[in-house]
Amino acid sequence: MNILVTGGAGYIGSHTCIALVKAGHSVIIADNLSNSKSKTVMKIMDIVEEGVNFHKIDVTEEVAVEMIFRNYNIDGVIHFAGLKAAGESVEKPIEYYYNNLVSTMVLTKVCQKYGVNRFVFSSSATVYGDNNVPFVENMELLPTTNPYGETKAMSERILTDIANANPLFSVALLRYFNPVGAHESGLIGESPNGIPNNLMPYVTQVAKGKLETLRVFGNDYPTVDGTGVRDYIHVLDLAEGHVAALVNLTKGVHVYNLGTGKGTSVLELVNAFELANGVGIPYEIVERRHGDIASCYADATKAKRELGWVAKRDLITMCRDAWRFEKNYKE
Ligand code: NAD
Ligand code: UFG
Repeated sequence: MNILVTGGAGYIGSHTCIALVKAGHSVIIADNLSNSKSKTVMKIMDIVEEGVNFHKIDVTEEVAVEMIFRNYNIDGVIHFAGLKAAGESVEKPIEYYYNNLVSTMVLTKVCQKYGVNRFVFSSSATVYGDNNVPFVENMELLPTTNPYGETKAMSERILTDIANANPLFSVALLRYFNPVGAHESGLIGESPNGIPNNLMPYVTQVAKGKLETLRVFGNDYPTVDGTGVRDYIHVLDLAEGHVAALVNLTKGVHVYNLGTGKGTSVLELVNAFELANGVGIPYEIVERRHGDIASCYADATKAKRELGWVAKRDLITMCRDAWRFEKNYKE
């Protein structure tokens, strides 16, 4: 299939492009490079040893999106493009609502016009809010604490309404848990701008000596050791989950958790990183971070049952691959 990958130069998108090409599909990347670099596209081509099509466009711009649909025979869309920093979204709500919602509406509008009925959307476990773990797809969604989370819940709703109105439309809403790690080549991975918000990139930068000490946000949660529990998933497993969702997509709306089903605490992750890489991670316990929940992990059985997909890579592999990328990475 010819797959339009919006946000394909970004962290999850770039790994998914590799998985798509490996599975025999052709990839057309549309990315405005607002949070990524064009050299990532070159690295994708180095890894897959073939060309991928790249268009530097903003997917909120209908004319630019339509140009791609005119130039290629698109069979399906995977829509990663979006702004994703939950904290920043509180400061910049308009930017988040505009970018994340308009992109979804423009893409689906053009899909309808060109008869493209296969759509995979990047949602997030954040839509579960403070439900009880493990999170199951049919749980009622709870309000999230930030505009970013709301854009995911609203996009899910928009896509569901489109599928209800058009019986030919097939959509997969993929709720990601915590993607970490990098391609085993060490060529592509996660390289956030500025000081990382997320745990794994913070840990790798402490390991590298770029940052001094990890701050562990709270050790008084009702969890195994008091620190926050999350479902870390290797980005390549997540990428393969997209291929499985795309290939198995049938008419209507299908929601899948993409996680491992296992919870890991902050201190467990730090220990695994030290063990995997033989590098010490100095840390201090500080106050809880505003908006954090105690535990977030998936019930991952639906994706296994319906897509035949399971996350295969363990926490040690995630830590090793994340560190290999960080060691190699130059700004
Ligand atoms: P990322 O920032 O690395 O990738 C997003 C890409 O989209 C970037 O390359 C950026 O330049 C591009 N982009 C943003 N707005 C655009 C626009 N209007 N037009 C064209 N390109 C645009 O982020 P990621 O971690 O790869 O996340 C991909 C998707 O997955 C996002 O929608 C994000 O909300 C979602 N998600 C991520 C996580 C996570 O922890 N990384 C968790 C849950 C969901
Ligand atoms: N943490 C620390 N110190 C840090 C960073 C994080 O102790 O410097 C802790 C957090 O308190 C939390 C855990 O590590 O307990 C994971 O935090 P992340 O920031 O890595 O990830 P979150 O689970 O908070 O959020 C991420 C994405 C969201 C997405 C969510 C989906 O950032 O956008 O996963 O589960 F919605």
